[in-house]
Amino acid sequence: MTVLCLRRPDDWHLHLREGAGLAAVLPDTVARFARAMVMPNLVPPIVTTKDALAYRDQICAALPLGADFQPLMTLYLTEETSPTEVLRARESGAVHGMKLYPAGATTNSESGVRTLDGVYPVLDTMAEQGFPLLVHGEVTDPTVDVFDRERIFLERHLVPLQRRFPDLKLVLEHITTREAVDFVCETPPQVAATITAHHLLLDRNALFRGGVRPHHYCLPILKRALHRQAVLEAATSGNPKFFLGTDSAPHPRTAKERGCGCAGIYTAHAALELYAEAFEQCHALDRLEGFASHHGADFYGLPRNQAHVVLERVAWQVPEELPFGADRLVPFRAGESVTWRLRDQHCSHGKP
Ligand code: DOR
Ligand code: ZN
Repeated sequence: MTVLCLRRPDDWHLHLREGAGLAAVLPDTVARFARAMVMPNLVPPIVTTKDALAYRDQICAALPLGADFQPLMTLYLTEETSPTEVLRARESGAVHGMKLYPAGATTNSESGVRTLDGVYPVLDTMAEQGFPLLVHGEVTDPTVDVFDRERIFLERHLVPLQRRFPDLKLVLEHITTREAVDFVCETPPQVAATITAHHLLLDRNALFRGGVRPHHYCLPILKRALHRQAVLEAATSGNPKFFLGTDSAPHPRTAKERGCGCAGIYTAHAALELYAEAFEQCHALDRLEGFASHHGADFYGLPRNQAHVVLERVAWQVPEELPFGADRLVPFRAGESVTWRLRDQHCSHGKP
């Protein structure tokens, strides 16, 4: 049997939600990852350090007994966010980034930023403090084709922003296009990107395979094959600017399967296994550990984890549904198989 032993990875982009939903999904992440950067797009959003600390307490209270897991918190940038809040966040040691949602770009982004100029004083402080900006990089202009929203965001907003704040630490989240890969490669080391498993494994045909597939709807939306190829090449290149961020985003089944379904794909139940599949397709399993367990920690200036996880090349079937508080959710690959399986126990001394 093929076995892979990796330093325990981190998930640098995760949606955990709250309450019973949080308690239902958290064990999936904890089984695989030592830390996760937790997104702040709750209702109402996490806008202050105080909110973030309370949310962190809620997550810690929901952790399975004896779990070794650290939630890394983020703040939701609004036009009301003050530079002082950045200082408070930094001092807390618990908040590791500020998330920029263009207003209206995605789930619960209504309180996001309408004009970037308005948040320049906050960005100045962030650049001074080395405090990272995590960017949902899509324009919200309804006249722009949904498949072009990332590319146009780069041209209209991100390139000028990066020039105006060359020292700002910036993570372009869940990249989906060749243009985003090029932007990250061409900018200095303080610019990096996260990549999801679903954008590595699917192109936009997956939205319409035999009929409309709401469980493959996410934002940024899946792109054509040539973009998937560029993102796969970036992830498997060994370039430390690219690292793992699942963007696992649970929604109740009923919220996905309706006239106007929500964006978000749940991958936490098989996250590392799915990345292993993608890397194996590219004959790059030897690069998985860097992408999953080294690059992100190094970028954020956090120590690499000490423990290890083991993956076995044994196929298993994903359930049709998973519990999600009072609801159910439909996980990625529901009713289908995943090639790699997580072994329960950690290997004892680094290598099996
Ligand atoms: O597909 C997505 N779902 N993209 C996002 O940006 C947000 C996320 C969510 O919170 O559901
Ligand atoms: Zn997200």
